[in-house]
Amino acid sequence: MEFKITLLPGDGIGPEVIGEAVRVLESIASKYRHSFHFQERLMGGCSIDKFGSSLTDETLADCVASDAVLLGAVGGPKWDDPRAKDRPERGLLALRKGLKVFANLRPVKVHPALADGSPLKAEKLAGVDMLVLRELTGGLYFGFPKGRDVKDGRERAVDTLEYYDYEIRRIVELAFKLARGRKKKVSSVDKANVLESSRLWRQIAVEVGEKNPDIELEHILVDTAAMRLISAPAQLDVVVTENMFGDILTDEASVLAGSMGMLPSASLGEAGVGLYEPIHGSAPDIAGKGIANPIGAVLSTAMMLRHSFHLEEEAASIERAAESAIADGVRTADLGGKSTTRQTTDEIIKRL
Ligand code: IPM
Ligand code: MG
Repeated sequence: MEFKITLLPGDGIGPEVIGEAVRVLESIASKYRHSFHFQERLMGGCSIDKFGSSLTDETLADCVASDAVLLGAVGGPKWDDPRAKDRPERGLLALRKGLKVFANLRPVKVHPALADGSPLKAEKLAGVDMLVLRELTGGLYFGFPKGRDVKDGRERAVDTLEYYDYEIRRIVELAFKLARGRKKKVSSVDKANVLESSRLWRQIAVEVGEKNPDIELEHILVDTAAMRLISAPAQLDVVVTENMFGDILTDEASVLAGSMGMLPSASLGEAGVGLYEPIHGSAPDIAGKGIANPIGAVLSTAMMLRHSFHLEEEAASIERAAESAIADGVRTADLGGKSTTRQTTDEIIKRL
């Protein structure tokens, strides 16, 4: 089969890990006789430098016109001025909005061989296999009013946490659908004891739950969820939550896996183009050294094959290869080892 993939390597270690992910895709293409056509574009800080904008209209249009988008990472100290008109992160948010990818899937699994790399006791990590579903195009990130002004002689800043019923319903419904193929349990995370938007969230979660009686539904307040993520992570299966809570909880959850460098993500919409990215950032401190962990990016390509291209066998083969490389002791620096980015990918490709 034939697919068009837009690459947005971005900043910092982004280009390094995307280069490796492409090598894995090329190897899959030749093994399974597919053609992947890659087009590379700038997004993030590199796009600000070249075009004065973190995401140009042309780049967004190219992304919309492709079958899937593979993104590295954006940001870095160079673009961190709080007064700057544009920021690398704005490009990422505009891309999510432009692609209408409202559902961010962040699976968190703990490889047994990495359990001692986590600050948690190994017995707590046994059986951890969760899927966090983060709402991606609503909430505080996008609500209006938003901005700064001067009121009564005081400088003021406002962000708005806004959700429409349909935005909540579509992601909660997806959570139930995904839970059906897993352990049949949905944990909906909100702050319904304080926030109006969370009370609507919970109401809709209950409604969707009543239509899916074969799936267990529980509601967890976000502060309790933060605690349960580290006190009893193996009890969680599908976790569904709004944008900002999901942003915070997935960084916390990534610690379970031993390193953020291990974790992939997929951002999906109603149909349309999927966006795939490792959950780690641009790691400017190690950029250009060839030591970044490529596994988060490589596993993101597996999610792309599965969710956008429906190539389950190919996706599973990448996941198995990465798992077996880890089991055999392949470790980049973030996991306490000495394997380079390239060596790690070579070990994965060998096992495909
Ligand atoms: C993430 C990141 C982004 C977010 C930033 C870079 C805008 O933290 O993907 O989790 O907050 O969504
Ligand atoms: Mg984040």
